[in-house]
Amino acid sequence: MASQGRRIAMVTAYDASSARLADTAGLDIVLVGDSAATTMLGHESTLPVTMDEMLLLTRAVTRAVHRAFVVADMPFGAYQPGEDEALRNAIRFVKDAGADGVKLEGAGRTLTRISAILDAGIPVMGHVGLTPQSASLAGSYKARGRTAADARRIFDEARALERAGCFAVVLEAIPAQIAAHITEALKIPTIGIGAGASCDGQVLVWHDLLGLTSGHVPRFVKRYADLNTTILDALRVYVADVKGAAFPDESHTYGIPDEELARFESQIAETHGRNFTNPSRKR
Ligand code: KIV
Repeated sequence: MASQGRRIAMVTAYDASSARLADTAGLDIVLVGDSAATTMLGHESTLPVTMDEMLLLTRAVTRAVHRAFVVADMPFGAYQPGEDEALRNAIRFVKDAGADGVKLEGAGRTLTRISAILDAGIPVMGHVGLTPQSASLAGSYKARGRTAADARRIFDEARALERAGCFAVVLEAIPAQIAAHITEALKIPTIGIGAGASCDGQVLVWHDLLGLTSGHVPRFVKRYADLNTTILDALRVYVADVKGAAFPDESHTYGIPDEELARFESQIAETHGRNFTNPSRKR
């Protein structure tokens, strides 16, 4: 797509219903991001999410996606220990959960893990710039690459990921000019999140894109809906309807033929010796 000048649209999803919507809407890539730790599981950072939890979410997504390419994010601890562990876990994502590829954060020591996974024929997406797994440990979620030296480091890492064989690389929270230089220098597509408009594609987190989060919204997020408000409004109306006996009405209720109801009521009146012909008496 990138070589034809077609932009790549990617979004995160963590369950079957959102994955079905993403697939139907024409997303090219669905990422089962380790952002699930915060968006789905209520953690403060991405660090605590486990392989087993990511596998469960990935299975739900792959069951619902029929067209898009599904990438599973390798969680913290799934590849840092070494190449064998990284390969074992990548295979679980593909074999047990049906993912089409995996994503790992960083370059440096991650490169040997990436090579081991690629050797098994599993497509790998890289991720440089702000890498949330190490940002949690460093304690800073600020944009990266804002000095010449840091920008150079990220540029070199992106090139190393391409040399290693990654099929694409996520550039997160770096200046647009630096992302443009990286995109120009690489043959593989760059997918930006807070990296400007020159990238070959863009990715956003489901909850950010749809307005499902509360509190601080990162600068790079564009909200395409305000589902927080929509869902809250709907739930409040539901509560009022239940408490006011406005729901369910006839249209949401199953019926029974009169003669069957009469037969049933005479049966229970016989066995229980009570008059059940007026079930609304409780009200
Ligand atoms: O986990 C995630 O959602 C990600 C995206 C921000 C790229 O890694």
